[in-house]
Amino acid sequence: KGLALCALLSVTGAAQALTVGFSQVGSESGWRTTFSESVKAEAERRGIDLKFSDAQQKQENQIKAIRSFIAQGVDAIVVAPVVETGWKPVFMEAKRARIPIVIVDRNVDLKNDSLYVTRIAPDFTEEGKKAANWLMNATAGKCNIVELQGTVGSSAAIGRMEGFNSVIANYPEAKIVRSQTAEFTRAKGKEVMESILKAEGGGESICALWSHNDEMALGAIQAIKEAGLKPGKDIHVVSVDAVDDIFKALAAGEVSATVEMSPHMGGPAFDVIEEYLKTKKKFDKWIVMDGKVFTTENYQQEYKARFVNQ
Ligand code: AHR
Repeated sequence: KGLALCALLSVTGAAQALTVGFSQVGSESGWRTTFSESVKAEAERRGIDLKFSDAQQKQENQIKAIRSFIAQGVDAIVVAPVVETGWKPVFMEAKRARIPIVIVDRNVDLKNDSLYVTRIAPDFTEEGKKAANWLMNATAGKCNIVELQGTVGSSAAIGRMEGFNSVIANYPEAKIVRSQTAEFTRAKGKEVMESILKAEGGGESICALWSHNDEMALGAIQAIKEAGLKPGKDIHVVSVDAVDDIFKALAAGEVSATVEMSPHMGGPAFDVIEEYLKTKKKFDKWIVMDGKVFTTENYQQEYKARFVNQ
């Protein structure tokens, strides 16, 4: 019966279901989990056969997954790259196999942008600038800042750091007193913040925590509380993503501000793939996604939409 249906479809010329390989970074954060779920749901809604691969934050796993997608002859590949460098050989292999690649989220460092169709992502530098602008306003530019960095070598960490630093450079009394990676995870966020608080004599001289994502901020909040300080009051907490848990922390006054990064990139990525496969249209190399800044003053409407009106 299945074979007969396939034969009928090819005789009538009706569209066959697309097969798309998706190489995801991992499941290091709540944001990432929502992103993966959203891509899977969108694929199902469109009848796309999605081959999902979790790289567990390792580029070598992503390269293996992409090679396996090529060997399986998928129609297109979506990749959220862990780090920026090291993509040329495998992207060239996909190009030789005539399989288009769409990048989502983090960037790649490639001179030859014909190796992919487009990238769908926010501007990480802008996210860092938004976080810093909020903090400089809230503190009149006078602040000792602790920075929790994301994964080393990832464009999300690089861009957010550059954007934030470019703003605070204009404020002589604002400085980063400690900066360390916590790999975008909650557990590391707590562990690193604990050691920073000890190294800073308990943390009373710290004015703010700048965390490259909400997940690390949530871990750090725990550490701040255990050190006897009040997150959001004794220490401002500013981060990026706008995940559900950070909204609960905003409501509790334990977070000061978060810069939104939408995890819903599956829809736009599949739109591009479907159109590209039909028309071979040239897309802009970067489709930029914007995000709001949510603070203790303006989070209420979004909070209601997420938790009350469900
Ligand atoms: O690359 C985007 C970042 O990766 C998100 O901000 C973070 O939560 C995730 O781990």
